[in-house]
Amino acid sequence: MTGPKGHERVSLDSIDLFDPHRYRTHPQHLDWATLRAQAPVWRQERPGRPAFWNVTRYDAVRAMIKDTGSYSSTHGNVLDVAEGGDSAGGYTMPLMDPPSHGWLRGPSIRTMSTLVVRRREEDIRARLRRMLEPCYDGGVVDIAGIMLHLPMLAVGEILGIPESVWPDIPAWTMSGVAPEDPVYSAGTTERTLRKAHYQLFAMFSEVIADRRRNPKDDLISVLVGLDFGGRGLDDHEVLLNCYSMVMGANTTTPYVASHLVAAMAERPEAWRLVRADPRLASSCVEEALRWATPTNHLMRKTTRDVEIEGVKIGEGEIVCAWLASANRDEQYFDDPYEFKPDRKPNPHMAFSIGPHYCIGGPAARAVLNVMVEELAADFEAFEPAGEVEHLASNFINGLTRLPVRPRLAPGAGARS
Ligand code: HEM
Repeated sequence: MTGPKGHERVSLDSIDLFDPHRYRTHPQHLDWATLRAQAPVWRQERPGRPAFWNVTRYDAVRAMIKDTGSYSSTHGNVLDVAEGGDSAGGYTMPLMDPPSHGWLRGPSIRTMSTLVVRRREEDIRARLRRMLEPCYDGGVVDIAGIMLHLPMLAVGEILGIPESVWPDIPAWTMSGVAPEDPVYSAGTTERTLRKAHYQLFAMFSEVIADRRRNPKDDLISVLVGLDFGGRGLDDHEVLLNCYSMVMGANTTTPYVASHLVAAMAERPEAWRLVRADPRLASSCVEEALRWATPTNHLMRKTTRDVEIEGVKIGEGEIVCAWLASANRDEQYFDDPYEFKPDRKPNPHMAFSIGPHYCIGGPAARAVLNVMVEELAADFEAFEPAGEVEHLASNFINGLTRLPVRPRLAPGAGARS
């Protein structure tokens, strides 16, 4: 994931931030750098389809995302639904505005606090070691495929997802978010989405029915019992929120891990730095979050006339805040296209900022920290071993294939 060379720029006419297939070779860093420099608030026209605005500088992205009064989430938060709106709009936490958003967020966030997650760390480590076993065989492994299983280690139990279906979760969630990607497509986009939704909904419906009878210590039990502005959530509302949670976890966390390994395979000296000082694990994770920025953009709809960096935008317009661009803004990050495991400060917005700040942040950080600690203890290098493939998605900065040969360090695996 290299960036533009020097002041390399492209012509504005050539930029298309919508087409998911453009993201199959690499993220659009050259385009975002051009927009930050030349048109930081830029309208993309689409023949026969509604246009949308794009905000690319750090300050403007931050201000926009924090302002839930002027920028609503209820129409949807991803470009794919810009035209018709998201059918879950107003029903799931990320797609709600205040005050209902707070009724759902307050009780849910407690199930995933730093304290709760910290208590689970040893369990996460034990499971993670099993997940990484193929890396110890001495051969080539597809790290992108292995890392898809990270999120369930972190939040499978917290959410209440039966362990028997954890191995299926990556395929079900990824087909839901990238139905056009050849790895996940089941024919047409519609068919792929229907299949993905059916499998997840059938599983969650069973768990919801069970938790209504026997509440447990998990998020689904919190959702079935919570006071939503004076009433309870019905099964459909609980279902939609379960779907949104599992998507939030699975379509993001694995890609921080796989982009990190890809970056270390390209930069052995940076990995040597991490291995030499175990205290760098957490700053390395923060840098990997900035580097990967798994959710490229957040979409919003204006609720009133607004002005961003001197550009006037009317009420009811679609505006995208490009987190991926903000996290490479040269005004905030020195050498933004360098991976610096010891970068400090690192005010990245990979988890967003403001009222919708990711509630899974502590869990994602915990599993990623343990992963870096384990990899750093046992592997001295990751040798590139084939073509890297990127997800066809304008929303998720994912990798669908990352072949590497992990090279064991002398004495590896000797820990208890
Ligand atoms: C590295 C991993 C992750 C990244 C980069 C990430 C990123 C984000 C971002 C950018 C948002 C803001 C969405 C918006 O404002 O429209 C968000 C919200 C959210 N994330 Fe995550 N996420 C991660 C992991 C997780 C995990 C493990 C969960 C677990 C269930 C989760 C659940 C959620 C939920 C429920 C929200 C909505 C919060 C709200 O609207 O108040 N995420 N996440």
